[in-house]
Amino acid sequence: MMIGNRKDDHVRLAVEQLHGKDASNEFDDVTFVHHALAGIDRSDVSLNTTFGGIHWRAPLYINAMTGGSAGTGRINRDLAIAARETGVAVATGSLSAYLADESVADTYRVMREENPDGFIMANINATTSVDNARRAIDLLRADALQIHLNVIQETVMPEGDRSFSTWFRQIERITAAVDIPVIVKEVGFGLSRETVLSLRQVGVAAADVGGRGGTNFAIIENGRRDTADYSFLDGWGQSTAACLLDCGRIPDIPVLASGGIRHPLDIVRSLALGAAAVGASGRLLGTLVEQGPAALVARLNTWLDQLAAVMTVLGARTPAECAHCDVLVTGNLRSFCEAREID
Ligand code: FNR
Repeated sequence: MMIGNRKDDHVRLAVEQLHGKDASNEFDDVTFVHHALAGIDRSDVSLNTTFGGIHWRAPLYINAMTGGSAGTGRINRDLAIAARETGVAVATGSLSAYLADESVADTYRVMREENPDGFIMANINATTSVDNARRAIDLLRADALQIHLNVIQETVMPEGDRSFSTWFRQIERITAAVDIPVIVKEVGFGLSRETVLSLRQVGVAAADVGGRGGTNFAIIENGRRDTADYSFLDGWGQSTAACLLDCGRIPDIPVLASGGIRHPLDIVRSLALGAAAVGASGRLLGTLVEQGPAALVARLNTWLDQLAAVMTVLGARTPAECAHCDVLVTGNLRSFCEAREID
């Protein structure tokens, strides 16, 4: 199987998934206590975001998706243009296709060409050599490096990796060797408190919890298999809200939220649970693929505007101030907190 074909499959199956499944997720177990006099003035709200040495105009980013084939190159071009037009940060998909075959370089490089001054994150896996990590950064003139953790996806993928023992040391080596911030992310199964503490130990700038509740790579890879399916893993992992409760207040390592972000309320909920910024993939991809690039720009602008509107109601002048809001945690999410002994 050519890597490029796999990337096309991922896009198709991720967009199909948006329609096939119940849209509810554990963010629904997070409710704000309404304080009718907490509101401030919209003009006092700023979306400026700072964490781990990174400065963004908004606490929202387009998270890693694609590249490596002609079609995914066009998607990357449109994602980069949308990021440029709205001022949000954007990540490439995994650069492993480029590191194996330079002929697909343009399908990633187009993101920098279209967004010369924007904040771009280059995405690699945890088996990448230091030299290749540098090649990935150089191709994009990247502002930060994302390293993805995807053990469940690899396991369900027939052609996937089966050796994971070197990943942590490799993250340590790459983090020590590169001179831009390193963000380690899951791809939809979540990071535990223990994992984030390990990442802090090796100097990672931020941990993106990439939790369950949105795009599900167990289901996507099960959909690509024709033998011995692993559908019993479809529900594996912690939801994004659960991860934030588990990890959101660990000192000295900012935590980012992604996985199952559906609308601005999920962004504010994530900020309230301690996320420094919030990433979305599947929903934004669906908008782009089904409604076109102008619709993606409109959606991002609407999300930013509505995010500021909800912050105004809550009395949060900055994304960081959302963490002081009054939230209630109920349902399955509350059971998770009890089982994990989180206060
Ligand atoms: C992804 N994701 C992803 N992540 C990563 O680190 N490297 C990658 O190459 C990819 N590829 C990829 C392709 C497609 C089509 C999608 C939709 C997603 C995972 C992504 O960054 C994110 O962690 C998950 O999709 C969960 O977020 P959403 O989709 O629920 O918002």
